[in-house]
Amino acid sequence: MKLAIGCDHGGYELKQEVLAHLKARGFEFTDVGCPDSSSCDYPIYAKKVTDLIRAGEADLGILICGTGIGMSMAANKEPGIRAALCHDVFSAKATREHNDANILCMGARVVGPGLALMIIDTFLDTPFSNDERHKRRISLYS
Ligand code: RB5
Repeated sequence: MKLAIGCDHGGYELKQEVLAHLKARGFEFTDVGCPDSSSCDYPIYAKKVTDLIRAGEADLGILICGTGIGMSMAANKEPGIRAALCHDVFSAKATREHNDANILCMGARVVGPGLALMIIDTFLDTPFSNDERHKRRISLYS
């Protein structure tokens, strides 16, 4: 599975921990930036991640900003993107099973790194249920 990950300045420090974790788990990933903690605009990095997913160059994405809210709003403007803002493990599991979410958004000012990594592992390790009712519901807005 190929991943794409992006952040703004609010998510930069947490992203460094996430990158180390993904490396340790052996995932193949593209880090689209931002490249440091200087102030920047989150929609730019949301678009870079959604472009990779829409092009089939990444299967799942992770977007981190201060709250995760701006990233999720920006990412969900793109066709075919189902970005889920999750700050708990239950939601991360449910959104993969029910919504086939293809991007996880998180706020680095909301969760600490320990919980963030648990949420990420849950999101990446949970497959879509493929249940007809969930496919039908997704098709109603996709
Ligand atoms: C940046 O200060 C902050 O607005 C951004 O990281 C994010 O939380 C936006 O939704």
